[in-house]
Amino acid sequence: MANRGIKICLVVSSLFLIIVAIVTVALFLTIFKPKNPGIFLHPVNLDDFELLSSSSAAISPLNVMITIVNPNYGNFKYKNSTGYINYNGSIIAEVPIVTSSVPARSIANVSASAGFMTQKLSADNNFLEDIEDGAFNLTANATLPGKVSMLKIFKLKAKVYISCDIVFNITSVEVDSTCISKIKL
Ligand SMILES: *[C@@H]1O[C@H](CO)[C@@H](O)[C@H](O)[C@H]1NC(C)=O
Ligand SMILES: *[C@@H]1O[C@H](CO)[C@@H](O)[C@H](O)[C@H]1NC(C)=O
Ligand SMILES: *[C@@H]1O[C@H](CO)[C@@H](O)[C@H](O)[C@H]1NC(C)=O
Ligand SMILES: *[C@@H]1O[C@H](CO)[C@@H](O)[C@H](O)[C@H]1NC(C)=O
Ligand SMILES: *[C@@H]1O[C@H](CO)[C@@H](O)[C@H](O)[C@H]1NC(C)=O
Ligand SMILES: *[C@@H]1O[C@H](CO)[C@@H](O)[C@H](O)[C@H]1NC(C)=O
Repeated sequence: MANRGIKICLVVSSLFLIIVAIVTVALFLTIFKPKNPGIFLHPVNLDDFELLSSSSAAISPLNVMITIVNPNYGNFKYKNSTGYINYNGSIIAEVPIVTSSVPARSIANVSASAGFMTQKLSADNNFLEDIEDGAFNLTANATLPGKVSMLKIFKLKAKVYISCDIVFNITSVEVDSTCISKIKL
């Protein structure tokens, strides 16, 4: 008798848990449908940045602050990854991005350092022409693989794809960028 009672109790409570889990995930995927994070780039030490380094140093660092706006009801945790900055289709800087997390509905500033391969730029005639015109365009992209979690219980694998258009104005020493992102679960 007692055994049977326990069995029924177990079946009922596991059914209940399964239903709660399904409803929560369904809510998460519909009402709380994942929204794309907002991404903003701000160069930090632009005045110290040596674009065409006269020294033989092959890499010129530029610190960038990456602001990530997470509009979702889930925490986003991403792993170490690498972003790329391209000039006219070829990679001219790598940006290591260190693992971190952005809490639900909040904003995080992530600092990173872009290592510009200045020799590659100095050797590009298109680039030298652009410099004479006072501005040049760059694109940047990165993929952040990670997890979205709610209440530390529900975890879904997610990837955030980021791509940015950057206008580097040499005359005014200013950088303008617009980024778009896409989250995929
Ligand atoms: C992530 O990068 C940091 C800094 O480079 C390093 O210390 C850490 O070990 C890396 N973590 C993993 C999991 O690779
Ligand atoms: C992130 O950086 C921006 C610009 O530097 C600053 O205005 C903002 O308060 C910072 N936000 C957080 C959460 O640190
Ligand atoms: C990119 O490179 C191609 C091939 O070298 C060249 O024709 C084109 O003008 C370049 N574009 C820019 C914006 O420099
Ligand atoms: C940079 O991009 C803008 C539009 O995004 C374009 O109007 C401009 O001609 C580009 N400049 C160069 C040097 O390619
Ligand atoms: C960046 O964009 C290029 C071309 O679209 C693509 O091949 C590459 O995989 C992207 N890299 C990342 C890290 O997203
Ligand atoms: C760069 O800045 C100068 C001075 O502010 C401005 O006159 C020029 O139009 C800017 N160039 C671009 C491509 O935005």
